[in-house]
Amino acid sequence: MPNLPTNAPRRLPTKPVGGKSSTAKPKPESRAKQAVSAPPSQAASNLVKKVSTLDQLREVIAEFDAGEISDHARQSVFSRGNPDADVMVIGEAPGRDEDIQGKPFVGRSGQLLDRIFASIGLNEDSLYITNVINWRPPGNRNPTPEEIATSLPFIHKHMELVAPSVIVLVGGVSFSALTGMTGIMKNRGQWTSLKVGETDIPTLPIYHPAFLLRQPALKKDAWLDMLSLRSKIESL
Ligand code: URA
Ligand code: URA
Repeated sequence: MPNLPTNAPRRLPTKPVGGKSSTAKPKPESRAKQAVSAPPSQAASNLVKKVSTLDQLREVIAEFDAGEISDHARQSVFSRGNPDADVMVIGEAPGRDEDIQGKPFVGRSGQLLDRIFASIGLNEDSLYITNVINWRPPGNRNPTPEEIATSLPFIHKHMELVAPSVIVLVGGVSFSALTGMTGIMKNRGQWTSLKVGETDIPTLPIYHPAFLLRQPALKKDAWLDMLSLRSKIESL
């Protein structure tokens, strides 16, 4: 595997977020100069251009300086499940348990999410699970628009490498980040599509399990959404 350039090295105190320190020695023939004062999303876009495998993407993300969220997180959280699965599940951001274990959706929300998918026979063999954001926002606050923008090149590359047949967007933040639409309450259960490379992939927004834990009466909608997902999978 080629050595990936990390023009967004972590924890150099003087550098702008996601870029190289402006005092760093300029390296001719490298992207360093161009990355000076680049916004982090630009740094992320530049990095993913070199990525052609999931292992490389995981490594680039693990090395990336995303500012406050990566500074405060114990580790980046990449994925769990089967990269060859038909269904890719995309949540919002790791929480406390995910930050500790390094895997998405392993806390209380994750356990509910697993039960929701298990209701139609889906599990880690038949799902690939990740998040829009790879680091736990401090205190589980919502990710900022800048943090979402920084993460988009990574999640877009992630979708391209997994190339699923169906995408499930879990909760309002991932729904808005990836579709550009708002209104999870009226859009859940409504199939839409996401363009990944040249392909339009059928995409189903569902409620976030953390929301369902607070609004258990709405679990019936999650059940309807699973029936709809099962029909879609059967039609593939
Ligand atoms: N909530 C999410 O959106 N993702 C996780 O991984 C955990 C909780
Ligand atoms: N608000 C969200 O952000 N997500 C949900 O799933 C429901 C309400």
